[in-house]
Amino acid sequence: MTEKIKNNTKLFAAFLIAVIAVMLVAGFLGYRSFILQKDLSTLRQAYSELDNNSLNTIVGLESELATVQNSLAEMENSYREAKRQNDDFEEEYRQVINTVYDLDKLSKTDEELLQKYSKVYFLNENYIPSRLQKISDEYILPGRSEQYFHVSALPFLEDLLEEAQDDGLDLKVISAYRSFDQQADLKGSYTQTYGSGANTFSADQGYSEHQLGTTLDISDAKTAGPYLSFAETDEYQWLSHNAYRYGFVLSYPKNNTFYVYEPWHWRFVGTELAEYLNDNDLHFYDLDQRTIDQYLINIFD
Ligand code: DAL
Ligand code: ZN
Repeated sequence: MTEKIKNNTKLFAAFLIAVIAVMLVAGFLGYRSFILQKDLSTLRQAYSELDNNSLNTIVGLESELATVQNSLAEMENSYREAKRQNDDFEEEYRQVINTVYDLDKLSKTDEELLQKYSKVYFLNENYIPSRLQKISDEYILPGRSEQYFHVSALPFLEDLLEEAQDDGLDLKVISAYRSFDQQADLKGSYTQTYGSGANTFSADQGYSEHQLGTTLDISDAKTAGPYLSFAETDEYQWLSHNAYRYGFVLSYPKNNTFYVYEPWHWRFVGTELAEYLNDNDLHFYDLDQRTIDQYLINIFD
């Protein structure tokens, strides 16, 4: 019996120890759990605060960025507008400068040079070209007096004569600038010989293109004068195909309304107008004066 009590006591003691041990462990675990819950809650709180702060900061930064971007866009627009206005102003300024330049150039260009003479337009006895220059003797038909040409048109004539020479042709100047008085004398002598018939090939003084200093009579050395047979020569063929490149045109082609056909009589009108006439198969007197005048400003370009 005593043995049984002893055993029961032992068992009870062991049970008690076990219960106490379990309670201790449970208490410890409960405490740990409490501490951990607390830490977790603190962490959650901190995290939530951190998250809110960051969010606020990001939203703030985004708003600032948007403001800066808006300002930039506005500045860009203002810059574009200012640049456009500046470009417009520059363009206007350029146009004004060009107009002033053109007006100045035009005011210095003798408007008589592209007028239609030939019984239509009159040059008075006081008109002489702004400056005349002697044509080199090598280009003058032997036996003829010295000849003068408009100083600004002479380089074009010299180029033409040199190129014709390079092509093996022999062009010679018969007559170039003629003053009002020289034309009067010439017409007077023709009239004495041919009577009113002289009107078919010789202009009255004041109506001759020769008074401009930009017109000349030319032929090959063999024909040696203002004769119809010049039209049959290689020199004339060459002029027909090339003279326009140097700004020269034939004033009186076949069937013109002013004078007889004059294959020897060429007038400088500038390369631009001469090319236009050549390209369109037209003659100077086919155009109206308003159309011709547009070419005056570039006559010596
Ligand atoms: N032979 C031309 C028409 C002149 O005398 O001008
Ligand atoms: Zn002539």
